[in-house]
Amino acid sequence: MDPIVPKDMLLPLPAPVWLLVALLLVSFAVHILFVNLMVGSSLLVMWTEIKGLKKKDWDKVSHQIAETITVNKSLAVVFGVAPLLTISVLYTAQFYSSSTLLGHSWLMVIPLVILAFLFTYAHKYSWNHLQHSKGVHLTLVGIACALFLSIPFIFLSNINLMLYPEHWARVHSFWDALWLPNVLPRYIHFLMAALALTGLFFVYYFGRKPEKQDFGSLKSSEVVRVFYGVALAATGAQILFGLLVFFTLPSHVISLRFLAILCLVLTLVPFALWWLWREVRADQPGARFWPIVLLLGGVVALMIWARHEVRENAVSPHRALVAAKTSEYRTRMTETQDYILMPGGLGGTPASPGSLVFTRRCASCHSFDRRLVGPALNEAIASYRGNPQGLMTWIVKPGRKRPDYPAMPAQEMPRDELQQLVEFVLQTTG
Ligand code: HEC
Repeated sequence: MDPIVPKDMLLPLPAPVWLLVALLLVSFAVHILFVNLMVGSSLLVMWTEIKGLKKKDWDKVSHQIAETITVNKSLAVVFGVAPLLTISVLYTAQFYSSSTLLGHSWLMVIPLVILAFLFTYAHKYSWNHLQHSKGVHLTLVGIACALFLSIPFIFLSNINLMLYPEHWARVHSFWDALWLPNVLPRYIHFLMAALALTGLFFVYYFGRKPEKQDFGSLKSSEVVRVFYGVALAATGAQILFGLLVFFTLPSHVISLRFLAILCLVLTLVPFALWWLWREVRADQPGARFWPIVLLLGGVVALMIWARHEVRENAVSPHRALVAAKTSEYRTRMTETQDYILMPGGLGGTPASPGSLVFTRRCASCHSFDRRLVGPALNEAIASYRGNPQGLMTWIVKPGRKRPDYPAMPAQEMPRDELQQLVEFVLQTTG
């Protein structure tokens, strides 16, 4: 299907592309780290609280998890601003289009996120109060989890849709976007990452200062082992779901570099799995914690890079189409303007090239014999008579001269146009 091709804004980027890309990737990494912790802990807090119904000590663990979620959620939101802004700037044509196609669903992120946060707070602060109404208390976290599980669908369908302009014509809502081939596998891939990361986080959280942790008969090494188990299972499942994502990618986004990154990831992950397994089996787990974090941190960095590769490969043909459309639009605009503004009106005798440039670039501010935004040129030109070079310099780099006028903005144009223009102005005023 033919992609829909909008034209770009005729504005330059506010910073060099490499800087924006670096900013995007780094800020996204930080953002997604806290998003993962927020979503993963919401699931784990519910799980441990349910475990606590049978074995009271797990309820204490669960309560501590609840304390962390609201902090991670605040950080996730704060660090979400930068990637959202940079992606809108770097991929304006694509991201704006997909956001618009999702319409209300995209905006629904805001109320849904607020609701999810409110339920998370309600769950955290009613812990002691609802100690004897666990059903109600679990319902609170259940609703928060349901919300946290549904919001990523909206994000994913948007950032997935922006990659495939060839589908835009038949997407009219969030539901259409949701069923594009890659969304569901990416969703599961995201959830598993969230669980793996959160498992590791709680290994750290409950592993530091074991003497200070008090979970009754439940030893902190036991708690640590359970979270190692979560990280292990989720990381293992990640290989499977990662492959599922891979096989649902359209072939044109797969490049050699992307494949190379994936191979590297696939060689690193087994080491992490092996160490995780050793930790689960250890009497005193914890010795391999930092090597595991380093290794999986490297894997995450590589995956973020791979993700960027896919995005660039997917968007680049569309980018070229947008650029072509934009330049075609520009040319057409200039031609039409020249045609309409010809002396004698539509279809009159063609004017000199210099006069066309004048009409286009100067006439909105200058007339020859009247004051407009700028002074009448018949007078203002006086000091440049016999000095075309001086006039060219002024046009390209005007200074501030008259207190009763605003400053003239610099007018950039190709060298030959500038020459034709100056010739025309000097001739007309001479
Ligand atoms: C956005 C409005 C604007 C446009 C477009 C514009 N000018 Fe001006 N121009 C001004 C203003 C305002 C001044 C007075 C600035 C001052 O004196 O500080 C000025 C001053 C001048 C002067 C007097 C310079 C001098 O040394 O006193 C010349 C000559 C001139 N413009 C030529 C041009 C030409 C040729 C173009 C088209 C390429 C052009 N301007 C486009 C606003 C404009």
